[in-house]
Amino acid sequence: MATDRTAVIGFPVDHSLSPIIHNHWIKELGLDIKPYEKINVDPNKFEEQINKLKAEGYGGLNVTVPLKELAFSISDETSSVSKKLRSVNTLSLNFEKIDGDNTDAVGFINSLDEKTIENNITNKKTLVLGAGGSARSLVYALNELGGHVRLFNRTLEKAQILLDDLSINSSPVGAEELDDYANSSSFIVNTTSLGQKAGEHNNILRFENIEMETFIYDLIYNPKRSSFLEQAEAKGLKVQNGLRMLIEQAACSFQIWHEIKVGVSEEIMSLLESV
Ligand code: ATR
Repeated sequence: MATDRTAVIGFPVDHSLSPIIHNHWIKELGLDIKPYEKINVDPNKFEEQINKLKAEGYGGLNVTVPLKELAFSISDETSSVSKKLRSVNTLSLNFEKIDGDNTDAVGFINSLDEKTIENNITNKKTLVLGAGGSARSLVYALNELGGHVRLFNRTLEKAQILLDDLSINSSPVGAEELDDYANSSSFIVNTTSLGQKAGEHNNILRFENIEMETFIYDLIYNPKRSSFLEQAEAKGLKVQNGLRMLIEQAACSFQIWHEIKVGVSEEIMSLLESV
Protein backbone atom coordinates (compact mmCIF):
# COMPACT_ATOMS: atom_id res chain seq x y z
CA MET A 1 0.00 0.00 0.00
CA ALA A 2 1.22 3.50 -0.80
CA THR A 3 2.69 5.61 1.98
CA ASP A 4 -0.03 8.21 2.55
CA ARG A 5 1.91 11.20 3.87
CA THR A 6 5.37 12.10 2.67
CA ALA A 7 7.60 15.16 3.08
CA VAL A 8 11.13 16.46 3.05
CA ILE A 9 12.60 17.62 6.35
CA GLY A 10 15.52 20.02 6.71
CA PHE A 11 16.67 23.10 8.59
CA PRO A 12 15.99 25.24 6.65
CA VAL A 13 13.99 23.37 4.03
CA ASP A 14 12.27 26.27 2.25
CA HIS A 15 14.33 26.07 -0.96
CA SER A 16 13.91 22.33 -1.48
CA LEU A 17 12.72 21.25 -4.95
CA SER A 18 11.71 17.79 -3.70
CA PRO A 19 7.98 18.70 -3.39
CA ILE A 20 7.86 19.66 -7.09
CA ILE A 21 9.45 16.34 -8.06
CA HIS A 22 7.38 14.05 -5.84
CA ASN A 23 4.11 15.88 -6.46
CA HIS A 24 4.70 15.64 -10.21
CA TRP A 25 4.84 11.82 -9.92
CA ILE A 26 1.96 11.62 -7.42
CA LYS A 27 -0.20 13.58 -9.87
CA GLU A 28 1.04 11.80 -12.99
CA LEU A 29 0.29 8.38 -11.47
CA GLY A 30 -3.00 9.56 -9.96
CA LEU A 31 -2.02 8.28 -6.49
CA ASP A 32 -4.74 8.84 -3.92
CA ILE A 33 -2.40 10.25 -1.26
CA LYS A 34 -1.69 13.65 0.30
CA PRO A 35 0.66 16.04 -1.50
CA TYR A 36 4.33 15.77 -0.53
CA GLU A 37 5.24 18.59 1.87
CA LYS A 38 8.32 20.38 3.23
CA ILE A 39 8.78 20.65 6.98
CA ASN A 40 11.39 22.46 9.04
CA VAL A 41 12.75 20.24 11.80
CA ASP A 42 14.95 21.69 14.51
CA PRO A 43 18.05 19.48 14.95
CA ASN A 44 17.87 20.05 18.71
CA LYS A 45 14.43 18.44 18.89
CA PHE A 46 14.99 15.87 16.17
CA GLU A 47 13.77 12.62 17.71
CA GLU A 48 10.78 14.31 19.36
CA GLN A 49 9.75 15.87 16.03
CA ILE A 50 10.12 12.62 14.13
CA ASN A 51 7.91 10.82 16.64
CA LYS A 52 5.35 13.61 16.29
CA LEU A 53 5.37 13.31 12.49
CA LYS A 54 5.04 9.55 12.79
CA ALA A 55 2.03 9.96 15.09
CA GLU A 56 0.50 12.34 12.55
CA GLY A 57 0.69 9.63 9.90
CA TYR A 58 3.82 10.53 7.94
CA GLY A 59 5.23 7.32 6.53
CA GLY A 60 8.04 8.60 4.33
CA LEU A 61 10.48 11.44 4.95
CA ASN A 62 13.33 12.69 2.82
CA VAL A 63 16.07 14.20 4.91
CA THR A 64 18.29 17.05 3.86
CA VAL A 65 21.04 19.11 5.52
CA PRO A 66 21.86 19.25 8.38
CA LEU A 67 19.78 16.29 9.52
CA LYS A 68 21.14 13.29 7.60
CA GLU A 69 23.47 12.08 10.37
CA LEU A 70 20.74 12.51 12.99
CA ALA A 71 18.37 10.51 10.78
CA PHE A 72 20.98 7.75 10.68
CA SER A 73 21.32 7.78 14.45
CA ILE A 74 17.58 7.37 15.13
CA SER A 75 16.96 4.65 12.52
CA ASP A 76 16.27 1.17 13.93
CA GLU A 77 17.43 -0.50 10.74
CA THR A 78 19.63 0.94 8.02
CA SER A 79 20.68 -0.16 4.55
CA SER A 80 24.29 -1.17 3.95
CA VAL A 81 25.04 2.05 2.05
CA SER A 82 23.62 4.18 4.91
CA LYS A 83 25.82 2.30 7.35
CA LYS A 84 28.84 2.96 5.18
CA LEU A 85 28.01 6.68 4.81
CA ARG A 86 26.61 7.01 8.37
CA SER A 87 23.94 9.15 6.77
CA VAL A 88 20.26 8.69 5.89
CA ASN A 89 18.25 10.70 3.34
CA THR A 90 15.17 8.45 3.22
CA LEU A 91 13.22 7.45 6.33
CA SER A 92 10.35 4.97 6.29
CA LEU A 93 8.32 5.34 9.47
CA ASN A 94 6.65 2.00 10.06
CA PHE A 95 4.46 1.08 13.04
CA GLU A 96 7.06 -1.06 14.69
CA LYS A 97 10.32 0.53 13.52
CA ILE A 98 12.08 3.25 11.54
CA ASP A 99 14.03 2.20 8.43
CA GLY A 100 16.79 4.43 7.09
CA ASP A 101 18.23 4.40 3.59
CA ASN A 102 20.45 6.64 1.51
CA THR A 103 19.68 7.16 -2.18
CA ASP A 104 22.31 9.84 -2.90
CA ALA A 105 25.01 7.48 -4.19
CA VAL A 106 22.66 5.45 -6.36
CA GLY A 107 21.02 8.68 -7.54
CA PHE A 108 24.42 9.90 -8.69
CA ILE A 109 25.18 6.60 -10.44
CA ASN A 110 21.79 6.61 -12.18
CA SER A 111 22.38 10.19 -13.34
CA LEU A 112 25.36 9.06 -15.44
CA ASP A 113 25.30 7.69 -18.97
CA GLU A 114 26.67 4.18 -19.29
CA LYS A 115 29.25 5.47 -21.75
CA THR A 116 30.49 8.04 -19.23
CA ILE A 117 30.89 5.32 -16.61
CA GLU A 118 32.75 3.10 -19.06
CA ASN A 119 34.92 5.76 -20.70
CA ASN A 120 35.55 8.16 -17.84
CA ILE A 121 35.17 6.34 -14.51
CA THR A 122 35.80 2.59 -14.38
CA ASN A 123 39.54 1.97 -13.99
CA LYS A 124 40.14 5.67 -14.60
CA LYS A 125 41.51 8.48 -12.45
CA THR A 126 38.68 10.49 -10.92
CA LEU A 127 38.81 13.62 -8.79
CA VAL A 128 36.30 14.85 -6.22
CA LEU A 129 36.49 18.48 -5.05
CA GLY A 130 35.22 18.95 -1.50
CA ALA A 131 34.92 16.66 1.51
CA GLY A 132 31.47 17.38 2.93
CA GLY A 133 28.36 15.21 3.08
CA SER A 134 27.79 15.11 -0.69
CA ALA A 135 31.44 14.29 -1.36
CA ARG A 136 31.08 11.27 0.90
CA SER A 137 28.29 9.79 -1.26
CA LEU A 138 30.16 10.54 -4.46
CA VAL A 139 33.47 9.08 -3.33
CA TYR A 140 31.57 5.95 -2.30
CA ALA A 141 29.76 5.79 -5.68
CA LEU A 142 32.86 6.40 -7.81
CA ASN A 143 34.72 3.72 -5.87
CA GLU A 144 31.80 1.30 -6.37
CA LEU A 145 31.98 2.02 -10.12
CA GLY A 146 35.64 0.99 -10.12
CA GLY A 147 37.07 4.49 -10.39
CA HIS A 148 40.39 5.41 -8.80
CA VAL A 149 39.20 8.21 -6.55
CA ARG A 150 41.22 10.97 -5.02
CA LEU A 151 39.85 14.07 -3.40
CA PHE A 152 40.90 17.61 -2.87
CA ASN A 153 39.59 19.80 -0.09
CA ARG A 154 40.45 23.24 1.22
CA THR A 155 40.82 21.56 4.62
CA LEU A 156 43.07 18.61 3.85
CA GLU A 157 42.42 16.71 7.11
CA LYS A 158 38.72 16.41 6.29
CA ALA A 159 39.59 14.70 3.01
CA GLN A 160 41.77 12.17 4.84
CA ILE A 161 39.04 11.49 7.43
CA LEU A 162 36.50 10.88 4.65
CA LEU A 163 38.77 8.37 2.90
CA ASP A 164 39.55 6.61 6.18
CA ASP A 165 35.86 6.45 7.14
CA LEU A 166 35.00 4.80 3.84
CA SER A 167 38.10 2.54 4.03
CA ILE A 168 39.20 3.75 0.61
CA ASN A 169 42.80 3.10 -0.21
CA SER A 170 43.67 6.53 -1.58
CA SER A 171 45.14 9.80 -0.44
CA PRO A 172 43.96 13.40 -0.52
CA VAL A 173 45.38 15.57 -3.28
CA GLY A 174 47.52 18.40 -1.90
CA ALA A 175 47.23 21.91 -3.33
CA GLU A 176 50.67 21.62 -4.95
CA GLU A 177 49.72 18.53 -7.01
CA LEU A 178 46.10 19.50 -7.78
CA ASP A 179 46.68 20.77 -11.31
CA ASP A 180 48.78 17.75 -12.31
CA TYR A 181 46.26 15.27 -10.94
CA ALA A 182 43.33 17.13 -12.52
CA ASN A 183 45.13 17.17 -15.88
CA SER A 184 45.41 13.39 -15.82
CA SER A 185 41.86 12.74 -14.50
CA SER A 186 39.03 11.47 -16.71
CA PHE A 187 36.21 12.58 -14.43
CA ILE A 188 36.12 15.63 -12.14
CA VAL A 189 33.22 16.52 -9.88
CA ASN A 190 32.72 19.64 -7.79
CA THR A 191 30.83 18.97 -4.55
CA THR A 192 31.79 22.22 -2.83
CA SER A 193 29.21 24.93 -2.42
CA LEU A 194 31.48 27.40 -4.19
CA GLY A 195 29.52 28.96 -7.08
CA GLN A 196 26.09 28.57 -5.53
CA LYS A 197 25.76 32.19 -4.48
CA ALA A 198 25.25 34.84 -7.15
CA GLY A 199 28.55 36.25 -8.40
CA GLU A 200 30.62 33.58 -6.64
CA HIS A 201 33.41 32.16 -8.80
CA ASN A 202 34.74 28.63 -8.41
CA ASN A 203 38.47 29.04 -8.97
CA ILE A 204 39.64 25.77 -7.40
CA LEU A 205 40.88 24.33 -10.70
CA ARG A 206 42.74 25.69 -13.68
CA PHE A 207 41.06 24.34 -16.81
CA GLU A 208 43.91 25.27 -19.15
CA ASN A 209 45.47 21.81 -19.41
CA ILE A 210 42.52 19.55 -18.63
CA GLU A 211 42.24 16.79 -21.26
CA MET A 212 39.48 17.24 -23.85
CA GLU A 213 37.94 13.81 -23.01
CA THR A 214 37.55 14.68 -19.32
CA PHE A 215 33.98 14.77 -18.05
CA ILE A 216 33.16 17.69 -15.74
CA TYR A 217 30.28 17.36 -13.27
CA ASP A 218 29.03 19.92 -10.73
CA LEU A 219 26.48 19.01 -8.07
CA ILE A 220 25.22 22.59 -8.21
CA TYR A 221 22.03 22.88 -10.32
CA ASN A 222 21.06 26.42 -9.38
CA PRO A 223 22.50 28.28 -11.25
CA LYS A 224 21.98 25.79 -14.07
CA ARG A 225 25.46 26.57 -15.41
CA SER A 226 27.75 27.21 -12.46
CA SER A 227 30.98 29.11 -12.95
CA PHE A 228 32.76 25.74 -12.72
CA LEU A 229 30.75 24.35 -15.65
CA GLU A 230 31.05 27.61 -17.58
CA GLN A 231 34.83 27.37 -17.49
CA ALA A 232 34.68 23.75 -18.65
CA GLU A 233 32.18 24.51 -21.40
CA ALA A 234 34.26 27.41 -22.64
CA LYS A 235 37.02 24.89 -23.24
CA GLY A 236 34.60 22.53 -25.02
CA LEU A 237 34.50 19.83 -22.34
CA LYS A 238 31.49 17.59 -21.65
CA VAL A 239 29.60 18.84 -18.60
CA GLN A 240 26.66 17.91 -16.37
CA ASN A 241 24.99 19.70 -13.49
CA GLY A 242 23.33 18.17 -10.42
CA LEU A 243 19.71 18.33 -11.52
CA ARG A 244 19.46 14.81 -12.86
CA MET A 245 21.02 13.41 -9.68
CA LEU A 246 18.47 15.33 -7.62
CA ILE A 247 15.63 13.71 -9.56
CA GLU A 248 17.23 10.25 -9.61
CA GLN A 249 17.72 10.19 -5.83
CA ALA A 250 14.09 11.26 -5.45
CA ALA A 251 12.99 8.45 -7.80
CA CYS A 252 14.79 5.93 -5.59
CA SER A 253 13.04 7.27 -2.45
CA PHE A 254 9.71 7.21 -4.29
CA GLN A 255 10.26 3.55 -5.13
CA ILE A 256 11.16 2.69 -1.52
CA TRP A 257 7.89 4.18 -0.21
CA HIS A 258 5.43 3.50 -3.02
CA GLU A 259 6.99 0.46 -4.69
CA ILE A 260 6.63 2.19 -8.06
CA LYS A 261 9.56 2.77 -10.38
CA VAL A 262 9.36 6.23 -11.93
CA GLY A 263 11.41 7.46 -14.85
CA VAL A 264 13.20 10.76 -15.25
CA SER A 265 11.29 12.25 -18.17
CA GLU A 266 12.17 15.30 -20.23
CA GLU A 267 8.98 16.82 -18.83
CA ILE A 268 10.22 16.73 -15.25
CA MET A 269 13.69 17.90 -16.26
CA SER A 270 12.28 20.97 -18.01
CA LEU A 271 9.76 21.56 -15.20
CA LEU A 272 12.65 21.89 -12.77
CA GLU A 273 14.87 23.81 -15.12
CA SER A 274 12.17 26.44 -15.35
CA VAL A 275 11.88 26.93 -11.56
P1 ATR B 1 27.48 19.31 1.56
O1 ATR B 1 26.70 18.52 2.54
O2 ATR B 1 26.64 19.96 0.49
O3 ATR B 1 28.60 18.54 0.96
P2 ATR B 1 29.18 20.62 3.47
O4 ATR B 1 29.21 19.36 4.25
O5 ATR B 1 28.94 21.90 4.18
O6 ATR B 1 28.08 20.56 2.33
O7 ATR B 1 30.56 20.73 2.64
C1 ATR B 1 30.87 21.82 1.90
C2 ATR B 1 32.19 21.58 1.16
O8 ATR B 1 32.46 22.74 0.36
C3 ATR B 1 33.39 21.38 2.05
O9 ATR B 1 34.30 20.49 1.45
C4 ATR B 1 34.00 22.81 2.12
O10 ATR B 1 35.37 22.84 2.40
P3 ATR B 1 35.94 22.80 3.94
O11 ATR B 1 35.81 21.38 4.38
O12 ATR B 1 37.33 23.25 3.83
O13 ATR B 1 35.06 23.75 4.74
C5 ATR B 1 33.75 23.25 0.70
N1 ATR B 1 33.73 24.69 0.54
C6 ATR B 1 32.78 25.56 0.95
N2 ATR B 1 33.10 26.83 0.61
C7 ATR B 1 34.31 26.76 -0.01
C8 ATR B 1 35.21 27.73 -0.58
N3 ATR B 1 34.90 29.02 -0.55
N4 ATR B 1 36.34 27.28 -1.14
C9 ATR B 1 36.65 25.96 -1.17
N5 ATR B 1 35.86 25.01 -0.64
C10 ATR B 1 34.72 25.40 -0.07
